[in-house]
Amino acid sequence: MRFEPSGGLRGSVTAPPDKSISHRAALLGAMSAEPVRIANYLRAADTLSTLDALRAVGALVEEHDDATVVVRGSGLREAREPGGPIDVGNAGTLMRLLPGWLAAQEGRIFVLDGDSSIRRRPVDRIAAPLRLMGADIRATEGRFPPFVVYGTPLSAITYEMPVASAQVKSCVLLAGLAAAGTTSVVEPALSRDHTERMLAAAGVAVDRRGPTVSVTFTDELDAQNVLVPGDLSSAAFMIAAGVLVRGSRLVVRDVGVNWTRTGFLRILERMGANVLGELEEPSAAVAPSEPISDIDVTAGALVGTVVEAEEVPLAIDELPLVALLGCFAEGETVVRGAQELRVKESDRIAGVVEGLRGLGATIEATEDGFAVTGTAGAALRGGTIDARGDHRMAMLGAVAGLASEEGVDVVGMEAAAVSYPGFMDDLARLA
Ligand code: S3P
Repeated sequence: MRFEPSGGLRGSVTAPPDKSISHRAALLGAMSAEPVRIANYLRAADTLSTLDALRAVGALVEEHDDATVVVRGSGLREAREPGGPIDVGNAGTLMRLLPGWLAAQEGRIFVLDGDSSIRRRPVDRIAAPLRLMGADIRATEGRFPPFVVYGTPLSAITYEMPVASAQVKSCVLLAGLAAAGTTSVVEPALSRDHTERMLAAAGVAVDRRGPTVSVTFTDELDAQNVLVPGDLSSAAFMIAAGVLVRGSRLVVRDVGVNWTRTGFLRILERMGANVLGELEEPSAAVAPSEPISDIDVTAGALVGTVVEAEEVPLAIDELPLVALLGCFAEGETVVRGAQELRVKESDRIAGVVEGLRGLGATIEATEDGFAVTGTAGAALRGGTIDARGDHRMAMLGAVAGLASEEGVDVVGMEAAAVSYPGFMDDLARLA
């Protein structure tokens, strides 16, 4: 798919529903005995994989035309043993959260598998804490899918996470609901807290003290209906395009602005971008307790910035865009402490560095990030970028094309459907 240099992007788009919150809302629905109604559910490949996985373990899931999903679950201790492997598709969040629930389903066996990208992504990071709780998990080569979860009674632990990860944290907290006593997770840096918010709304005693978050044994979840906010990680592509393409002025509506997700907006602010939202006191919130705001973007000049480890989890999926923005900034943009990027849907350090270099950027990879030398406003030349089967890399290439001199060919644009099926339409409308 080719993306030609564009004139200013103008108008407004509504951000697609949040992927992280959609996964969690459906999962908590399946874990509840009472039905849960989820409005504005993300209908994209990843979150449809979640609905199918939950059907496989016994939930009744109705999908309505207006993007409402009703999940009729089986209860906290009543996941059904499926007839065959559970296919998580491309969804890392599903692969890492679901076992937190399944590990405690006594006497039942679950096999989880996914696509070729999933088979390269480690599950030892969830298997390690779950095993400390008494779980029985057997993975391919000790750490990859397909893997088997043998349900067994669990005990509470305090787990110091070696790497900040909302997926690992969420997995341990979900397992903690079935473990007698208090299960705690200590985060090396804050990561997105959607699971904690949703569990608290479902009646779980969630306690946060500094870097430690705890849950206690819970009889039944009373999950609330959810209205899913717009996904900042998807909106980020439109925001970056608006910042980079000369003459742009656009609004992205109804974006979730939970502080643990808005690191990208703070990075943009440091870079001098003209991006406004009601971030401190959002005017509206959607259930349960996720703040939303419109984000107002005007194109303008950028300066380089440094992103350190503690900021990484707050902007993890937007770091490829930080590299692209850095290409146009004055001075150097450096990202450190982001080795997690190597185990995302693709190796995003290698993909970003080789991809952007192929378009004319001056960028170096490091073990745990990258360093970009910007052009102080001059456009990237353009060329071809390979999405490597990764939705965010595909959309990165598209935005780079609009802001380039000669256009960009993206190989594998169809990957965008994993999180943002309407991406091409939204972009076309703005351009
Ligand atoms: C996610 C957490 C992040 C992020 C992923 C979604 C989540 O992964 O990269 O796209 O929904 O919890 P980690 O927290 O494991 O780094």
